[in-house]
Amino acid sequence: MGTTTEHQAPQPALSVRDLSLHFGGITVLDGVSFDAPQGGILGLVGPNGAGKTSLFNCISGHYQPSSGSILVEGTETVRVPAWRMAKLGLARTFQHPALRLDASVLENVMLGAHSWMPGGPVSWALRLPPTRRREREARATALQLLEQTGLGWAAAMPADELSHGLHKGVELCRALLSRPRLLLLDEPAAGLSHGEVEQLIGTVRAVRRDFDLTVVVVEHHMGLISALTDRVVVLDHGAKLMEGTAAQAQSDPRVVEAYLGKEVAR
Ligand SMILES: Nc1ncnc2c1ncn2[C@@H]1O[C@H](COP(=O)(O)OP(=O)(O)OP(=O)(O)O)[C@@H](O)[C@H]1O
Ligand SMILES: [Mg+2]
Repeated sequence: MGTTTEHQAPQPALSVRDLSLHFGGITVLDGVSFDAPQGGILGLVGPNGAGKTSLFNCISGHYQPSSGSILVEGTETVRVPAWRMAKLGLARTFQHPALRLDASVLENVMLGAHSWMPGGPVSWALRLPPTRRREREARATALQLLEQTGLGWAAAMPADELSHGLHKGVELCRALLSRPRLLLLDEPAAGLSHGEVEQLIGTVRAVRRDFDLTVVVVEHHMGLISALTDRVVVLDHGAKLMEGTAAQAQSDPRVVEAYLGKEVAR
């Protein structure tokens, strides 16, 4: 290997370049660019309506951006539909989780295994031996994940008996079961008590380390952002306002102004 290659910075897990999104005449994202370095935890913050969830929707293939580029480990993904993103190592949780409320917590988590189940709908329906083997593996791993995130006690419960905040934990387990390398978390602390947020911070740190993940987290809870992230990108009105550490963001007059009248720190 030549010297130039040896000294090249490692490829980012995620590169967003000049990304714009318009709905009719409304600009939702306006030329946003940033990188999420491999193995890091990047925060994405900004006032309500800044475009954070829309940006996640573009990265996860739920929205088609109007222009720009999204590279996941160097692969262009703007035209890749959401259902194929798991194969490229991406998983996400949603700001408003939509679990199967009639199914158990464990069954909800097991849905995350679909991306690596062998065969297709026919072998799943017939429950052929390779499918049954993988199902056992998925069940065991799903239970381990629930234990690891402090939700083992809820495995057999119907999902609708859990609080909204805990649905986020179930979604996190489902996302992890898809074996991602890049994980997007949209407001994981919303609806959690102070103690539960502390536990979540520990969980995100542990899963990042144990599963060798890169994490991008959207949060209004600045305590969580300060505790977890290496860097933050601040969005306002669809554009990147600044990028730096959480402390730099909180003391930046432009950020304070963007949040004017809103709560910057909790
Ligand atoms: N499918 C859509 N059609 C039209 N407008 C949309 C659509 N999705 C998002 N928007 C608009 O884009 C803007 C950004 O919304 P988005 O949900 O991305 O903000 P956010 O930063 O996640 O806010 P919050 O912190 O409240 O979750 C809003 O004005 C929203 O109404
Ligand atoms: Mg949002």
